[in-house]
Amino acid sequence: MIKEPKTLETERLVIRRVYSTDITLFSATSDPEVTKYEPWQPHEDVTQLMEYINQVFDRYEEGNITEWTIEIEETGEPIGMINIHNINKTHKHGELGFWLAKEFWNKGYATEACKAVILYAFTELDFRRIHSITASGNEACKRVLGKIGMSYEGTFRNYMYLNSTGRKELSDVEMYSVLKNEIN
Ligand SMILES: CC(C)(COP(=O)(O)OP(=O)(O)OC[C@H]1O[C@@H](n2cnc3c(N)ncnc32)[C@H](O)[C@@H]1OP(=O)(O)O)[C@@H](O)C(=O)NCCC(=O)NCCS
Repeated sequence: MIKEPKTLETERLVIRRVYSTDITLFSATSDPEVTKYEPWQPHEDVTQLMEYINQVFDRYEEGNITEWTIEIEETGEPIGMINIHNINKTHKHGELGFWLAKEFWNKGYATEACKAVILYAFTELDFRRIHSITASGNEACKRVLGKIGMSYEGTFRNYMYLNSTGRKELSDVEMYSVLKNEIN
């Protein structure tokens, strides 16, 4: 489908391909609050983030993932990542995932980035459906999914081990989605 994601610009953000220099995001990927509702453990060592970045480069080559770094336009500072993964080209759908460093929460940045990525996916990549799953307790994420026009579709029970439970018990997750014909 694509080799490398296109750079998207919004009012305050540049959403661009991942670079090795995004290793500066280690302060976020090692933060247990950022990964609280994620299935992945906080990085203990910077090499874990470098491994992830290298996997992203491999997937750019395969054309099966769109992963971007979210950067503040004014300062050029990377603040998080956003992606469409689990892409099904036949059925034209994919799953939206995103996270930001804590100091940038509650400023509308995730909403701004998600809207730009969804618009791009529908208008330039021929997706018909974008969905996102989130832990039932992740109120901030659920709020973002609502603000970007997604509808709640249902709850998957005992779906995922999350860091918030110390991976001791499986958590419920909620599925939200938006369709191409629902975006103006
Ligand atoms: C989820 C996350 C990306 C949101 O990013 P953000 O830039 O803060 O999101 P926005 O500022 O666009 O919107 C956040 C909304 O959630 C609301 N919110 C924040 N914490 C909340 C809480 N505990 N309960 C209810 N609403 C909450 C904010 O008030 C805001 O809504 P508003 O605009 O109506 O006031 C960020 O919190 C994050 O990175 N969390 C860790 C990783 C994660 O959970 N990723 C999502 C996986 S699906």
